Amino acid sequence: MKPTNLAFLVFGITGLLLVFILGYFSSSEKIYFTDVHPHIKNSDTQTTSFNGESNSINNKTLVILWYNLPFYLKSSVTYFQANKCNNFRSTCILSTVHSDILRSSGVIFTHSTLPRTPPMKNTSQVWIFNTLENKAFTHWPNTAWDYKFEWTMSYRRNADVSRPYGKIIRLDKSIHRNYSEVFRQKTKFGVWMSGHCPVPSRRKEYIEQLKKYIDIDTFGSCGKKKCGVRTPAMNECLKNFSRDYKFYFSFENNICRDYSTEKVFNLYQYNLSIIPVVNGPPQAGEYLPKGTFINALDFTSPEKLAKKLKEIGSSEKLYTQYLREKDKYGSLNNSEIFRESMCSACKKLDQLKGKNIIAKPKVIDVFKNEC
Ligand SMILES: *[C@@H]1O[C@H](CO)[C@@H](O)[C@H](O)[C@H]1NC(C)=O
Ligand SMILES: *[C@@H]1O[C@H](CO)[C@@H](O)[C@H](O)[C@H]1NC(C)=O
Ligand SMILES: *[C@@H]1O[C@H](CO)[C@@H](O)[C@H](O)[C@H]1NC(C)=O
Ligand SMILES: *[C@@H]1O[C@H](CO)[C@@H](O)[C@H](O)[C@H]1NC(C)=O
Ligand SMILES: *[C@@H]1O[C@H](CO)[C@@H](O)[C@H](O)[C@H]1NC(C)=O
Ligand SMILES: *[C@@H]1O[C@H](CO)[C@@H](O)[C@H](O)[C@H]1NC(C)=O
Repeated sequence: MKPTNLAFLVFGITGLLLVFILGYFSSSEKIYFTDVHPHIKNSDTQTTSFNGESNSINNKTLVILWYNLPFYLKSSVTYFQANKCNNFRSTCILSTVHSDILRSSGVIFTHSTLPRTPPMKNTSQVWIFNTLENKAFTHWPNTAWDYKFEWTMSYRRNADVSRPYGKIIRLDKSIHRNYSEVFRQKTKFGVWMSGHCPVPSRRKEYIEQLKKYIDIDTFGSCGKKKCGVRTPAMNECLKNFSRDYKFYFSFENNICRDYSTEKVFNLYQYNLSIIPVVNGPPQAGEYLPKGTFINALDFTSPEKLAKKLKEIGSSEKLYTQYLREKDKYGSLNNSEIFRESMCSACKKLDQLKGKNIIAKPKVIDVFKNEC
């Protein structure tokens, strides 16, 4: 064997091992924000129908069955029932009752609690594979599910049904603050909070590098301090962070196309006066407003990023410029995003008019070589 081949072999085996180890850690991961993060494994198997409309079903009513709805989505389902989709002719009913499967046009399956073997599939149905995780943390279906899914539902903007973690909206009225006072109250520099440490993006290593140049307090199990981690006091922590710190390091576990989680969107949704620093992805500027956040990927080294942050953080004028810009925006909450994605699924199903579409051999292929 040539040395280069050997090198590849060793590299390959190490890679496989790494994937295996990461897989293990991801499956033991716990949730972060109790009401939003999709890591929760519990699925809701109870059989109450979410609608009292079964009798009114006609040829313009489409049924979507969510086969294994995670319990944390229940309130979003209720919200969807109360706030129908407008602007198109079909009505969609969302059911979680397995016996509705025969009359369903679309069936959604959550990746983390997928049954070992698929139920019977009506050939005219569209099956939708749902994951909000990136490729490294998604539980991929076994081969029994090959050629079963036509669509995917994911945080990606180009998913068949897109369901991002947040969606930036421009506020009718900007938030107003005494920016001078906000700036003066901030006695600390950077804060990072994380629940899991060994992740593909190597965010902890990056933070360690940054710490050589700037002060960053680390909270959560990767750091020294605790602040309401995995408890409802989380938002209280974020409020306190926004009062005391200038920058919030919102570092994802993996740098993947469109992968930005509630970590960053929370800062827009909850009226928080702190500037996010993200670790990618390169597309972040396409859905987060320019001049409101800083992307570490725009800098060639932690040192260069630290220098820039120091420059912004030490100037009231520069810093509050970011804050003022950020205060023009908010983010939709989970229920609204859920509703939007269900309405988009409903619309797409309606447009199919029962036409058959081609199933994907393997859903993992939609991620191609990207993570
Ligand atoms: C479908 O709906 C149209 C208009 O509401 C109605 O005229 C028609 O009879 C319905 N067809 C069936 C099979 O229910
Ligand atoms: C498949 O779905 C169609 C339309 O919803 C329905 O008419 C048909 O009876 C279903 N077939 C089976 C085998 O359930
Ligand atoms: C902002 O707060 C400071 C005190 O920190 C105060 O002196 C100043 O008058 C306030 N400015 C406005 C516009 O309220
Ligand atoms: C937030 O700050 C206030 C005032 O300093 C403090 O009393 C409270 O305990 C803090 N909350 C959390 C969750 O740390
Ligand atoms: C945002 O928070 C600030 C102070 O933290 C408050 O004065 C303001 O009213 C809030 N705005 C909204 C829209 O909640
Ligand atoms: C989400 O936003 C909608 C519309 O503003 C609101 O009616 C709903 O109560 C919010 N839901 C939650 C859980 O905050």
